[in-house]
Amino acid sequence: MKENNIKNLLKDSKAYYENNDYYEIFSKAEDGEGKVAAYLKEQAKEKIVLDAGCGTGKFLEQLENESSKYIGVDLSFEQLIKAQSKKKKSNTIFINSNLKDIMLESNSVDLIVSPWVLGTVTDLIERTKCLNELKRVLKPGGEIILIENEENSEFEYLRNHHKDKKTNIYNNWIRNNDFNKVEEINTYFNFANLKEAKLCFRKIYGNEVANKIKNNKIEHKIGIFKYAK
Ligand SMILES: C[S@@+](CC[C@H](N)C(=O)[O-])C[C@H]1O[C@@H](n2cnc3c(N)ncnc32)[C@H](O)[C@@H]1O
Repeated sequence: MKENNIKNLLKDSKAYYENNDYYEIFSKAEDGEGKVAAYLKEQAKEKIVLDAGCGTGKFLEQLENESSKYIGVDLSFEQLIKAQSKKKKSNTIFINSNLKDIMLESNSVDLIVSPWVLGTVTDLIERTKCLNELKRVLKPGGEIILIENEENSEFEYLRNHHKDKKTNIYNNWIRNNDFNKVEEINTYFNFANLKEAKLCFRKIYGNEVANKIKNNKIEHKIGIFKYAK
């Protein structure tokens, strides 16, 4: 049973770790103006921060600089190796683990940030287990910040989420789990050129999505959701 669950989770996140190099380019292009990084940097000041689903360490630099301790957790060993190579502080640690079972004590971190992670766990029971585990390790008075896609942006239209309502359904799940939306950020993916944009989207989302791209800049709306313990 446990093995099946792990297989499901691996399948859900497949696009991200099997296309690791493309995801790194995609991740660099995402939020071309660095608005999310600036927001998270502000929140992390002198806190013990858990980056839940840290991937290749997109926000490592900002969080590591501001926090008193940075802990990155991810299911993908390959992504953690990349994150680890960006580490600057000796007390920064990485844990290769499923979020539903993190080897950290209860009530031990001040702030949890989880950018674009829980939505990739498509099995609702598994996703709830991950969220409950985040709540367990969070100190009373601490906060969980989820960075998520919002509806009605070019990025959503490209991926047909205006039709399948995936973003709407997922964001309602977040709200139903005691999160409030605290901010909306209008930003864009900024690829070096159209060819790079198409290549990245083809590898991650397939031909149909990639063929719709007409520009190296892709409009993207982001929501910031907070839970307070
Ligand atoms: C879309 S990527 C986002 C990565 C990073 N937060 C960023 O903004 O670049 C989702 C990440 O969540 C990780 N992930 C998905 N499900 C997970 C789980 N159950 N436990 C731990 N990590 C998970 C994936 O391996 C992947 O690195």
